Amino acid sequence: MNHRTTTRRRTLAGGAIALAAALTLAGCNDDSGAKDSATKAKPELKVSGAYIPEPTMNDMAAGFFTLTNKGGADELTSATSDIAGSITLHSTKGGAMKEEKSFKVPANGHLDFASGGNHLMLEKLKRKPKQGEKVEMTLHFRKSDPITVEVPVEAATYKPEQHDSSHNSH
Ligand code: CU
Repeated sequence: MNHRTTTRRRTLAGGAIALAAALTLAGCNDDSGAKDSATKAKPELKVSGAYIPEPTMNDMAAGFFTLTNKGGADELTSATSDIAGSITLHSTKGGAMKEEKSFKVPANGHLDFASGGNHLMLEKLKRKPKQGEKVEMTLHFRKSDPITVEVPVEAATYKPEQHDSSHNSH
C-alpha cells in the first residue's frame, strides 16, 4: 500500500514542501471572491504540462498536470487509462499522502498536480510506461465532458521546474 519511495521522501524533505504549500494556497484562494458570480457559468477546462515520470516500480506510476479553468467551478471526479487497472487521486499535506474522492477545480482558476503535491496514482499497471512513449489518459468531471490527453512519459527524475536538483543522484 505504501508507495512512497526514498526519492519522494527526500523530495518532500527539501524545497518541495514549500512549493506544494504555495500551490495549495494559490489554488484555494484566488477564486474566493469570484465564486458567487461564477457558480452558474460553464466551466472551460484545459489540461497542460501533463507528464508521467517513468516509474521505478512495476505496478504503479504517478501522473501530473495542470488544469486551467476559464469558466465556472467544476470538480475532477476520476481519471482512467488503458494501461492502469485503476487510478486514484491523492493529495499531499505535510508530507503525508491522502486519497481524495475528488478535487475542486476553482472558477477562473487552476488546479495543480505537481511532484510533492497532488498527484494521480496509476495502479495495477498492465504494462510499465517507458520514457519517450505516450500514455492516453482521460479525466472525468462533475460538469464538463471528459478530457482525453496524450501524456508523455518522462525520465524518472524529470522536474518541470528545476527548483532543486540535489536529489538527482541516479
Ligand atoms: Cu500517492
